[in-house]
Amino acid sequence: MQAKLTVHPAYTVGQVDKRLFGSFIEQLGRAVYHGIYEPDHPTADEEGFRGDVMDLVKKLGVPIVRWPGGNFVSGYRWEDGIGPRERRPRRPELAWGVIETNEVGVDEFQSWCKKAGAEVMMAVNLGTRGPDDARNLVEYCNFKGGTYYSDLRRANGFEEPFGIKTWCLGNEMDGSWQMGAKTATEYGRIAAEAAKLMKWTDPSIELVACGSSGIGMCGDWELEVLRHVYDHVNYISLHSYYGNPSGDTDSFLSVSLEMDRFIHSVCAIADSIKQVKRSKKTMYLSYDEWNVWFHSHGAPFEKWSVAPHQLEDVYTFEDALVVGCLLMTLLKNCDRVKMACLAQLVNVIAPIMTENAGEGGRAWAQTIFYPFMHASSYGRGIVLDGRLDCPTYDTTRVGAVPAVETCPVLLGDGSITIFAVNRSGQSEAVLECDLGAFGIARAVEHIVMAGHPMDAVNTADNPMNVVPDSCGNAAVKNGVLSAALPARSWNVIRAGV
Ligand code: AHR
Repeated sequence: MQAKLTVHPAYTVGQVDKRLFGSFIEQLGRAVYHGIYEPDHPTADEEGFRGDVMDLVKKLGVPIVRWPGGNFVSGYRWEDGIGPRERRPRRPELAWGVIETNEVGVDEFQSWCKKAGAEVMMAVNLGTRGPDDARNLVEYCNFKGGTYYSDLRRANGFEEPFGIKTWCLGNEMDGSWQMGAKTATEYGRIAAEAAKLMKWTDPSIELVACGSSGIGMCGDWELEVLRHVYDHVNYISLHSYYGNPSGDTDSFLSVSLEMDRFIHSVCAIADSIKQVKRSKKTMYLSYDEWNVWFHSHGAPFEKWSVAPHQLEDVYTFEDALVVGCLLMTLLKNCDRVKMACLAQLVNVIAPIMTENAGEGGRAWAQTIFYPFMHASSYGRGIVLDGRLDCPTYDTTRVGAVPAVETCPVLLGDGSITIFAVNRSGQSEAVLECDLGAFGIARAVEHIVMAGHPMDAVNTADNPMNVVPDSCGNAAVKNGVLSAALPARSWNVIRAGV
């Protein structure tokens, strides 16, 4: 199969915002407790953060991490998580049916983020609480001192403000599963009022309004919410999760086309409100929850326990290919999608898995870890507006789908990365692309993930079962790159001047 990619230096999508490679940690399952935080673990530092997990997080290079939820945030009292640990209350956590001990709160989380080299993307509770609690949290985090909440932070040992720049106005407020779920009008009003108070407290912050919890809910929600919040916020959020319960690989590999349609739909709605308001401002998108999530659906856990195994999807090679396609879709929409969060980071639907300290204490990378790490490492540049000519195949889910997906990115040093997935289960594809106009003279590396059964996974005992290999055959001759993309493969082709 031939796949011809055409690119030109004059045709670009835009500069990638590094926050496109963000992630998410919710106070849920073993994401925080036994994930990032486990004082008994042999690698734990003086604050109780696991060093083995930190090392893996740093390999992913996540620049921003959303916290504390997710569904959790819609019942959260942030004041429970500050001050002396022995005085912090244990509470029934209604979103996930567990007990929250509050051992980790905002003070600890921002400290973990600093160690990880990441910013905090803070979500406020607009479910059971409202604008007053939200502005108090901004004051606690970002006010220098000399006021009640800023002095409370200083008394808790944090003299300097945390300087948290990005704030989410609630979470999935359109969903009936959400504590304090709202109609679009109710949410639009409360979000606008919270936004005003939060920005009056710290005018430098940026705000994200809740969009839809999935493409099936998109439309009227955004139209109504944006009428209320357009002038007050910088981003509208999108969430989506994908699965393959029926085992239809061809369809599953096509879900990135659904993600693309979702992004374009939200842009169209946002731009219609822009016109209605005669606004000069463009609304950007924050895709602050996205991933594959279905393997763990229905898995039992003990109700009202502390940090049980919840949402612990074990990811397959097939999932890694899907995540690769989704990453390319985000990159190809980088002119509008400025932030995105792989949901989540550790243990809970995550690229990083751990065992509890008492059960072996190992940490390892799941299959989806690798495409994310590659995109984060080699995808920070200018996305080129390429055109791909290749065969299509039919799927029950989205109809005709290109057999090959590519995304070319021009990096600051003049080199080019081409990410590519060959979706076909039948044939190898030969990718060809004339890069002469960019002065490209050589292939630097061709990383490949291929040759595994679709259900191959990594485990604590076999953590290197599905890993990438620099075994591809990409070559450049007279400025023309050619590379064989094996059937069902993830590829990272790096070419230099
Ligand atoms: O990431 C898991 C859950 O998915 C989040 O808590 C929620 O926002 C979404 O429905």
